[in-house]
Formats: sequence, C-alpha cells, structure tokens
Amino acid sequence: MRHLLSIADLDRSGIEEILDLAESFREVTRRDIPKVPALRGKVVVSLFYEDSTRTRISFETAAKRLSCDVMAFSVASSSIAKGESLRDTVRTIEAMGIDAVVVRHQAAGTPRRIAGWIDAHVVNAGDGCHQHPTQALLDAFTLRSHLGPRLDGAHVAIVGDILHSRVARSDALAFAALGARVTLVAPPTLLPSTTAGWPVDVRHDLDDLLPDLDAIVMLRIQRERQAQSRFPSLREYTDRFGLTVERARRLRPDALIMHPGPMNRGVEIAAEVADGPRSVILEQVANGVSVRMAVLYRLLAGGATGFGGTGFGGTGGADAPGGETTGRG
Ligand code: CP
Repeated sequence: MRHLLSIADLDRSGIEEILDLAESFREVTRRDIPKVPALRGKVVVSLFYEDSTRTRISFETAAKRLSCDVMAFSVASSSIAKGESLRDTVRTIEAMGIDAVVVRHQAAGTPRRIAGWIDAHVVNAGDGCHQHPTQALLDAFTLRSHLGPRLDGAHVAIVGDILHSRVARSDALAFAALGARVTLVAPPTLLPSTTAGWPVDVRHDLDDLLPDLDAIVMLRIQRERQAQSRFPSLREYTDRFGLTVERARRLRPDALIMHPGPMNRGVEIAAEVADGPRSVILEQVANGVSVRMAVLYRLLAGGATGFGGTGFGGTGGADAPGGETTGRG
C-alpha cells in the first residue's frame, strides 16, 4: 500500500473498508474537540498546481484532525516561477522530511509521475480529466449515508460535461464497484468518443430517466476547457440537461441531488434546487473531511489492506474511465 492515484486501485472491499473507517472518523469530526493523535509526527504536503476550494481545505483539515503537520505549497510564490521543474520541486520538498504529498495538477498522470520520483505516499487530488478518487469516495460515502450500506441496485445518473470530468470517471467506477447501476446523461458532444469499458449506460435524454433515479449527480459545465462550443448556447443546454425546478419535481421525493462543486448556478442546476431539501451538496463537502481522514490514515498508519496495485489504474485509452486526458472535473 503506497499511493491512492485512481479509484481503479480499489476493489469493492477496498472501497468499503475506507468508507467504514470514514464512519469512525465522522464521529471524531462531531466531537467538541474534533482531533485524534493517530498520525502525530507525520508530515503531509498539499501541492496544488490547479485551483481548489473544497479538496485542498478538506485534505488540510483532515490531516490536522489526525494531528499531522501540514505544509501548504503555493505555486504562485514558489521557485516554479523561476523555472524549477516539477521533479526538482517534489524532490526538494521531500528532502525536508515528509510522509505524504496530496497533489492536484492539470496534466493527467502527474500524481503517478511524482510517485515514481519520491518515497513519500502520493494521493491524487485531481489530475486533468483522469481521476479524482477521493471525490468518488466521498460521493459514495454520501450515497451510503442515505441509501444504506449496500448500493446494490441503486440507480444513479451522472449528468453533464462527462467529457472533461475526472469526477464522472471516478464516480462511475466507484458506484459500479459498489453494485449501483450508473447512467451517464449528456449530449453526444459532451461525451468521450467511446465509453466502451465504462460500467455504465449512456443516454442523451434526461427527462424520461428522472422518476427512476435514487440519486442524480450534476456536473459543472467546464467552459474554460472547451476550445470549441459543444452546444448552441447555455440556455439551450439548460433547457435540455439542466436540473431545473420543473425537472427536480419529477424526481422521486427521496431522490438525492448531488454536485461535486463548484456549481454554475442557473446552468447545470437551478439555485432553488441546489439549496432545496433534497440537495446533499454541502453534506458531500462535510463528508469529504471524514473520508480524507480515512485515506490518510490508511496510507500513513500502516497495516492497512485494500489498496491493490501500485496506483495508476486505467489500462484503457484516453477516453477510458482510467485513461489520461487533460481537463478537470
Ligand atoms: N470538487 C472539487 O474538486 O472541488 P474543488 O475544485 O473546489 O477542490
């Protein structure tokens, strides 16, 4: 057990072990003093080459609640501006004595490259449109919190910009591994050229599906990643694929509404729906801390099981859920 680079590194029992452990850590996060000495003396570095609000703060909070020392790396004020390479940067940081690196990078495969250069554990916090394994774990944790410990037979739709989404690639693998039925919904222009090998059904129409769903995951339209327009206008996208108030009414009363964030309110999801009673979007954020505590503990405390393989996961091409392309999710 060395790294968490892809959700494909984990089989069902590996995922369930982490989610079970996260239940224990959720109890810790609810205490008056939400901190345990489990990883005292361990040093975790957050190395974010790409913007983040949730993931970065969540990992840093998780590490602190486990009593780790946390080093936050700022790309803007680092020697990268003077031309220092990624390899020299991470080897320099490691020389100061660290135990784990949490890395986000716009280029798919960067966490795996880093894992080949240093001895410290590496956790992928999002690389291109390849993988975001801890997002998948926290999303699965959130589903289990509402649907029960086993997701077998649950129907989950992932809707929107699948093409650029590392969250879609990670969620689909995690939910399917746990027994859920996963349907991707998007216009053909926002899907990979092939979804062969993905454990999913694919649909281009959202409306018929709505009454059948246990949960719906809305994805951000990644306009900054679209060199060409992939739909006629935002209004037309929302008309066909947005979770509007009208569409939300067609969901079952107990269906969960999810979004990994950040949201484009009024585009892929209406503000009233995002803030409505069936939305678990902020619960996803809160669960992220417990799940990341579980991941850090599994990697750094030793003696854990379930992290099969050395990390990169996907063996397919660029469009496979574990494949490498640039983008984000
Ligand atoms: N869900 C997610 O990765 O959000 P951030 O980009 O804010 O970390």
